[in-house]
Amino acid sequence: MSALEEWKQRVADCRNARQRPDEEMWQRLARWYDEWVAHNDYVDVILARILPYLGRSTRVLEIGPGSGAFTIPLASRVRELVTIEPSLAMREVLESNLAQAGLSNVRIIPERAEEGLESLGGPFDLALAAHSLYNISSIDDVLQSLVALARRTVVLMGIGEQSTWYRALHRRFKREDRIPSPHLGHLYPLLLDLGVCADVEVIWVSSNYVYETEEDLLDWWSYHLHLDGDRRTTLRSALLALAERRGDGIGIYDRRRVALVTIDANRNLSDQNGGCATALSEALTSDLDDVLDLSG
Ligand SMILES: C[S@@+](CC[C@H](N)C(=O)[O-])C[C@H]1O[C@@H](n2cnc3c(N)ncnc32)[C@H](O)[C@@H]1O
Repeated sequence: MSALEEWKQRVADCRNARQRPDEEMWQRLARWYDEWVAHNDYVDVILARILPYLGRSTRVLEIGPGSGAFTIPLASRVRELVTIEPSLAMREVLESNLAQAGLSNVRIIPERAEEGLESLGGPFDLALAAHSLYNISSIDDVLQSLVALARRTVVLMGIGEQSTWYRALHRRFKREDRIPSPHLGHLYPLLLDLGVCADVEVIWVSSNYVYETEEDLLDWWSYHLHLDGDRRTTLRSALLALAERRGDGIGIYDRRRVALVTIDANRNLSDQNGGCATALSEALTSDLDDVLDLSG
């Protein structure tokens, strides 16, 4: 199977496993997602790496902004931000967060990247896709459009690792292994096939699932694992064995590794073939060796 076929297969497998239409899921989770962002550090960690690329005259394109984790801090620093967000539930939370922050330089295109990119005029200084490419089947077209539109494209994604507790919880209650979303081990070979040079940094971030009450913790995981009421008692004891009470909340606190993939359009336009060989040898740190070995 080619890297592209592997990516598409993984997207299809994950869609089948979700068992619900995407919008139904976001209707239920959009507000929670906003809180999830607040309990985790990935935005600060990634912003520290991308802010040096930005200035007051910068134009940014963001794929799948969600509730605005990156949109809000970026919009206050740049001239214009264009976002492509297909979920109505996410757009509603994003619009409310933008209004609260008093930001008016953000345009929201209510489409999927697969369609929304076609009508956009570049160039952008930066294109950002943070945890938003996992459900895109025609990833080759989207990546090529981003490289054509933006001087620098930054993709944040998982590396295919799953926490031990999450894997065990899933296996116990769903009686099967969870299929991780497409990850760096899928994306990097695909970029090589496309002749796109990219640098990769693998970074530790928090992965905290924090709730106000024990019942909220239970509701969220019941929904996530598609469990009915009669398994609630067993689920409660499994979750309480993992969770800690901190301050006013209760949560499962963990850390995980994510990949920051950076594509410099100039490097790709000027030296398509030779450039990739250099980029690959530069990027093949021991971290990446580990990551590409993951079969997850
Ligand atoms: C996990 S959230 C990430 C939100 C935000 N970027 C962050 O890092 O917190 C994924 C977002 O990508 C959006 N998304 C999913 N499929 C998409 C597509 N085909 N095109 C653009 N956005 C998409 C979802 O609606 C959702 O808002």
